[in-house]
Amino acid sequence: MEQQRNGCPREYTIAAMRHDTRVTRAISTQETLTFHGLGGVGHRDARGYRRGMHVLVTGGAGFVGSAVVARLVERGHRVRVLDALLPAVHPETTCGPPGAEFRLGDVRDATVVESALDGVDVVCHQAAMVGLGLDLEDAPDYVGCNDLGTAVLLSAMARKRVTDLVLAGSMVVYGEGRYLCSRHGAVAPGPRARADLDAGRFEPPCPHCGRPLISALVGEDAPLDPRNVYAASKVAQEHLAAAWARASGGRALVLRYHNVYGPGMPKDTPYAGVASLFRSALARGEAPRVFEDGAQRRDFVHVTDVAGANMAAIDAVGELPEGSVRRYNVGSGTVRTIGEMAAALAGAWGGPAPVVTGEYRLGDVRHITADSARLRRELGWRARTPFEEGVRAFAREPLRGE
Ligand SMILES: NC(=O)c1ccc[n+]([C@@H]2O[C@H](COP(=O)([O-])OP(=O)(O)OC[C@H]3O[C@@H](n4cnc5c(N)ncnc54)[C@H](O)[C@@H]3O)[C@@H](O)[C@H]2O)c1
Repeated sequence: MEQQRNGCPREYTIAAMRHDTRVTRAISTQETLTFHGLGGVGHRDARGYRRGMHVLVTGGAGFVGSAVVARLVERGHRVRVLDALLPAVHPETTCGPPGAEFRLGDVRDATVVESALDGVDVVCHQAAMVGLGLDLEDAPDYVGCNDLGTAVLLSAMARKRVTDLVLAGSMVVYGEGRYLCSRHGAVAPGPRARADLDAGRFEPPCPHCGRPLISALVGEDAPLDPRNVYAASKVAQEHLAAAWARASGGRALVLRYHNVYGPGMPKDTPYAGVASLFRSALARGEAPRVFEDGAQRRDFVHVTDVAGANMAAIDAVGELPEGSVRRYNVGSGTVRTIGEMAAALAGAWGGPAPVVTGEYRLGDVRHITADSARLRRELGWRARTPFEEGVRAFAREPLRGE
């Protein structure tokens, strides 16, 4: 199937469509000119950054993955992308981010994955189906892409003796997160009841006395309590990585991202984040529709800061003890509500004010906010994009598929 894909050189297209590794490698040889000619396991520069590693980024054509690839290429790493270009999030075809070797392929396919691991020092595993999805009909695909895909990748890594993994985790693993009750201290409320949500009672009460709660920041050691299929699949990914590290002597560094926003976000689909849904509504000339009462607390972190966290993780993962896993929250440190995000975007766009609808999605949590102190303390990472600045720019930047 020789088919021109938008904006890609014909040969590149053919290589990707056929999964023909020989042709892809030939193309990548030309592209290594842009990799600064480096190879091997890398070295550190005067600022302590690792350079010259060969990094496989799964899902590297996606929103976060392509920002990670851009930073890796900028740093002089050699980058290979493995991405299935899922139609749900890639309405237009693409040849992957520039400066990297691109392989069109699925992480559930052991042959493709094993070949993609050739010569690789570190894997940065971003590939996943994201978001709440449509309904339970999506569940097999979530579990297939996220968990079977991770298991296939990890077993291939063990076979090929690739020992270092950076895994894109998510705050969704915590469920409702951490709350404080004036009488019972720290408590973990259960899932919100449909009857409460129907009646507009969105705040989860204390599970012991029913008093109102105050939401608090969640640390990495908080218990995991996934509330939807996607969240369950992200928890399983982490457990698989831990089992792989123990059994193979590998090292895994998990970055639990908060709500990521910024340029290149897929435009509104059931798999897109809330910032993209609001931004897409504004582009259609419509008001952003804010569910519940808009007071849900989140931490919106800019995609360039998440890419920066991945750089820090790729630098650090090789220093972890063999057989271990270390987890880090990745948030901006600034708590905002969903309503505030909608209002800030509408203001920056110059569009209609948000409408608060009172609708809800059963799998959503009320408040979840991260404590990213561990990432700052241990890896020296800082979120650098203030909310106002990031949102102002996001209002004008293209979404993927626009
Ligand atoms: N965007 C967020 O707010 C957010 C928050 C927390 C965690 N995450 C995690 O970050 C990672 C990247 O998410 P994103 O927002 O960039 O999503 P995205 O949908 O833009 O990117 C994911 C990429 O993975 C690819 N992919 C999916 N299944 C695949 C498979 N089976 N084989 C090969 N490629 C496959 C898709 O084609 C896509 O290009 C995911 O692991 C996600 O769980 C994202």
